[in-house]
Amino acid sequence: MPRLTSGRRHTVRFTLNGRPVSGEAEPRMLLTDFLRHVIGATGTHVGCEHGVCGACTVRIDGALARSCLTLAVQAEGADVRTVEGLAGADDTLSPLQEAFRQNFGLQCGFCTPGILMSLDALLQETPDASEEEIREHLSGHLCRCTGYGPIVRAAVAAARSLREGSHA
Ligand code: FES
Ligand code: FES
Repeated sequence: MPRLTSGRRHTVRFTLNGRPVSGEAEPRMLLTDFLRHVIGATGTHVGCEHGVCGACTVRIDGALARSCLTLAVQAEGADVRTVEGLAGADDTLSPLQEAFRQNFGLQCGFCTPGILMSLDALLQETPDASEEEIREHLSGHLCRCTGYGPIVRAAVAAARSLREGSHA
């Protein structure tokens, strides 16, 4: 009887937040599962698992990506960035993370890693992003707790602190 899955595994190697990582993955393994269960990087959350909620958002070679819609093998050789890479080497919160802390930009925190990754990318590309642009950017993320107001306030405050270099 033919086997439904080959079970063949591939070694996947990439750079995660600046450090080389590797592990074994079946061809159909999702990047979310590879990050969380093979590498042990559990900062990336998994919600809907079909590209809707944004909780699993990471950056791959600079571009934002839903890691629940990405196969682990597709990350081979890439520069992958996750929420674990936002803080400084001494665990100092990034300006965006600090703004979330100060503005109560999270409650349960389930959506937070994806939102932080997404806003971090926006503020890198558009440091003077307007509140409207921030809201538009957040439209790809679902948050069940906050009503979005504190998240937007945090992002506006982070943009201001990045522009002013005050990082608070
Ligand atoms: S878990 Fe990937 S978009 Fe929801
Ligand atoms: S803080 Fe709970 S889902 Fe956003």
